[in-house]
Amino acid sequence: MASSGARRPLLVSDRAVARLGVAESVVEAAGLPQGSASVFDDVEPELPLSCVRAALEAARAGAHDLIIGLGGGSTLDAAKVCAALAGRPGDVRDYIGVGLVPGTGLPSILIPTTAGSGSEATPNALIMDDERGEKVAMVSPHLIPTYAVLDPGLTVTLPPAITAQSGMDVLAHAVESYTSRRADMYTEMYSRHAALLAGRSLRGAVRQGNDLDARAGMLLGSFLAGAAIGQAGTSATHALAYPLGARYHVPHGLAIALLLPSVMAANLPAVEVKYAEVALMLEGGLPEGGLPEGRPHPDRLTAPAAVRRLCDEIGIPMGLARHGVDPAVIPEMAAEAHAIRRLMDNNPRELSVDQVAAVFADAM
Ligand SMILES: [Fe+2]
Repeated sequence: MASSGARRPLLVSDRAVARLGVAESVVEAAGLPQGSASVFDDVEPELPLSCVRAALEAARAGAHDLIIGLGGGSTLDAAKVCAALAGRPGDVRDYIGVGLVPGTGLPSILIPTTAGSGSEATPNALIMDDERGEKVAMVSPHLIPTYAVLDPGLTVTLPPAITAQSGMDVLAHAVESYTSRRADMYTEMYSRHAALLAGRSLRGAVRQGNDLDARAGMLLGSFLAGAAIGQAGTSATHALAYPLGARYHVPHGLAIALLLPSVMAANLPAVEVKYAEVALMLEGGLPEGGLPEGRPHPDRLTAPAAVRRLCDEIGIPMGLARHGVDPAVIPEMAAEAHAIRRLMDNNPRELSVDQVAAVFADAM
């Protein structure tokens, strides 16, 4: 275990987790001496840059030898940055971008308390640069934690709305990695299983929060989808979600849910077969022997509608306008999203700025 021999662990967490009072039991479960862990529990949702800097300062100041992340996606992302950069000089901004972390950092254990980001399996940390008003990403294989611990019991107290939004993020990770231009047989295996688990478990996890089987399905789905996006990436839905987060502070999972059906409808001509499979997975799985060769029957091309129906069933208030988005801003948001080539280049269909604007309009 990564904790063996650790003397000065830092637990990175947030106020919501602190209220649950599970931090001490996590330290104990990791086999660490009582009272040995320092705690930074100030991580904020959507992870502002100022917050990552504060966490990193705590990690550097304490000469820590192990980072434990306990919380939602933002908290785990902050913990990953701490582990990667505690022993390195410079500012967080110096490492923002792809492949700029030069080597392994401190050992880390990540323990998610939401099923959504899959951060415990990804090489990404997403940060809101509040000074520049943009959402940015630190991407490096050295951000992948040493260990991930999946305990569905930690997710049972999540309220239904958060469960629904973060669960749609899991489904979007599954769908976007599955249809990414960078997908391969290995990542497709993870994506398919994640989509299947989301299809089987999300409704139950929202309707009955203490349903441990449903919670376990979503937590495993989140991890598997995270592993898939670590290799294959996400695509247009995530690119379009960036300006919604930066301009309107729409939480990531909600932004993804609001956009996913419209992006899928736009992508449909490029990925008919894979979407037919997604539609079947959302209904509980592929038939014995898989889909027949060749083009699927048109009545199976229902994945965007199936996703929209799922959003309705789990109570997500659909429509960007209901969340304060001004349609007059669509051209600017479309240009911003289109420029995020790191994600848009993964999209199975080339979308022009006008087509991106049409997707935003469809999601209004
Ligand atoms: Fe996401």
